[in-house]
Amino acid sequence: MISQTAPEGEPHFVLTMAEHTEMCGQMARAFGNDRFEPPAPFDEVVYIVENHDRGWDPYDANPGLDPTTRVPYIMARTPTPDAVKTNRGSPDFNEAHHPYCGLLSSMHSWGLYNGRYVMPFPVDFPPGRVGAALREFPADRQTYELVPA
Ligand SMILES: [Fe+2]
Repeated sequence: MISQTAPEGEPHFVLTMAEHTEMCGQMARAFGNDRFEPPAPFDEVVYIVENHDRGWDPYDANPGLDPTTRVPYIMARTPTPDAVKTNRGSPDFNEAHHPYCGLLSSMHSWGLYNGRYVMPFPVDFPPGRVGAALREFPADRQTYELVPA
């Protein structure tokens, strides 16, 4: 869930990650014009944009409530065991579609725990699936060959 902060007594705007990624996918499909290129490879990049938070689906069906706000936790305050599951689930979902989608999704999850988004997360980088996915693929993307799904 994404729960916006709000002044005391004001309503919070809350949306599921599926709603968030649907909007992201619309933006990715529209990205590009005569001054800059669209995403490439288009189908794989748009797929990962549309599904980059799919690991949240089970959690969003029954989200925890932040006792301080009494609305669903914002991502950065989601209890660590739940957050680790969601951030591992997204690369698994995307890798099942295409290895390149799995790689991009792994990089996204890895970045959450390594300051890529300038967001201070209160947890250490979780070992396991996300790190393993990054090691499975060449670090130099120029050498990576796309294999049709
Ligand atoms: Fe997202």
